[in-house]
Amino acid sequence: MRTQIAIIGAGPAGMLLAHLLAQAGIDALVLERRDRDYVEGRVRAGVLEQTSVDLLRRLGLSERLDREGLVHGGTNLALDGQIFHIDMAALTDGSTVTVYGQQEVMKDLFDAAPARGVKIVWNAENVALHGLDGSSPSVTWQDAEGKHHLACDYIAGCDGFHGVSRASIPASVLQVFERVYPFGWLGVLADVPPAAHELIYANHERGFALASMRSATRSRYYVQCGLDEKIEDWPDERFWDELCLRLGPETGAKVVRGASFEKSIAPLRSFVAEPMRWGRLFLAGDAAHIVPPTGAKGLNLAASDVIVLAEGLIEFYKSSCITGIDRYSARALSRVWKAERFSWWFTSITHRFPDMDGFSRKLQMAELDYIKGSQAAQRSLAENYVGLPLAAA
Ligand code: FAD
Ligand code: DHB
Repeated sequence: MRTQIAIIGAGPAGMLLAHLLAQAGIDALVLERRDRDYVEGRVRAGVLEQTSVDLLRRLGLSERLDREGLVHGGTNLALDGQIFHIDMAALTDGSTVTVYGQQEVMKDLFDAAPARGVKIVWNAENVALHGLDGSSPSVTWQDAEGKHHLACDYIAGCDGFHGVSRASIPASVLQVFERVYPFGWLGVLADVPPAAHELIYANHERGFALASMRSATRSRYYVQCGLDEKIEDWPDERFWDELCLRLGPETGAKVVRGASFEKSIAPLRSFVAEPMRWGRLFLAGDAAHIVPPTGAKGLNLAASDVIVLAEGLIEFYKSSCITGIDRYSARALSRVWKAERFSWWFTSITHRFPDMDGFSRKLQMAELDYIKGSQAAQRSLAENYVGLPLAAA
């Protein structure tokens, strides 16, 4: 078997890249370890930057997004229950974000795949990458039909944080930068109307809380929790009580309680592996970097990585020019690091840290009070939240 680009992983990075390449007439094959139901069923990100929305439009995949996505021109911060609004559209050039769940994005990408010639192998086990530092890379895997071998020009490692791609790069080549946070987010989905029209990122003495949504009838809420806590420790009643407390009396009174149908705990981590290319292998999305979810950058970074990667690959197949490919890692990393900075900063001013003393707490309060009173600070937050531009080609 032969293809031009082998793509490992059918998450947002892999599928967006596959669609971009298909649109440009480049042959690719996506190898995914799980099945479609599993990938589509994972409840993850919820907020799309304009760059991600524009990408889906450019791919002609935005019909449902344009119909069902909730466009937000602002967001809210809260300190011990006192809410203030950040008018992102007014503080930027009119930029907005769109609330549209990762599950919906994946459904749209998978639904459109067959008609656009995007080929996916599901349940590909024991995926292994070969010949990355030579001129004839290949991928092998196993499935119900047996063992397979795929020769290709390049491999896109879009297989997430725990995938095989980054692990295939010699440790001596990769530089890893990491920060693990001493807490996680407990997330809940419930079919109840959201408490507010826009999101609320709340700093409370007892810990962080986030009020988000998926639609006018579906709410997505998070509370900061300890890393040793289990889902069983959080029956719905306890979750709603804690959420309302942290959001404060004004918003708490507007929270509509109901049975949760999804509840999960995610640890928080900042991670970057550099460079994002080794020989014939490119890393994109979570395979190369992780951000804490504060600020909703994870899915959006996966999208911006593959925009840059696709530009380089398309240029290569059109004109044999390798400049774009050679610039990929540096160009992608320049945006990645700014999103890492923003996600780390937003996490650090909104969460309760176990070792936090009175001084650190006062600094957090001062930072939020400063943002509340300063247009300059609000503008900085807004331009990062709606998404920074891609680095120049
Ligand atoms: P992934 O979505 O991880 O996709 C990688 C794909 O590769 C998967 O389908 C996986 O099955 C496949 N794969 C892995 N190993 C192999 C292999 N060996 N062979 C073949 N296939 C393989 N971001 C936000 O912005 N907001 C959030 O609220 C948020 N919540 C999150 C909650 C959790 C639990 C997690 C894990 C992430 C969350 N994120 C969130 C981050 C966001 O979902 C990710 O940044 C985004 O999914 C990255 O897309 P990706 O395609 O790079 O990786
Ligand atoms: C959601 C997740 C985030 O990490 C975030 O910053 C905003 C919203 C969400 O799942 O809705």
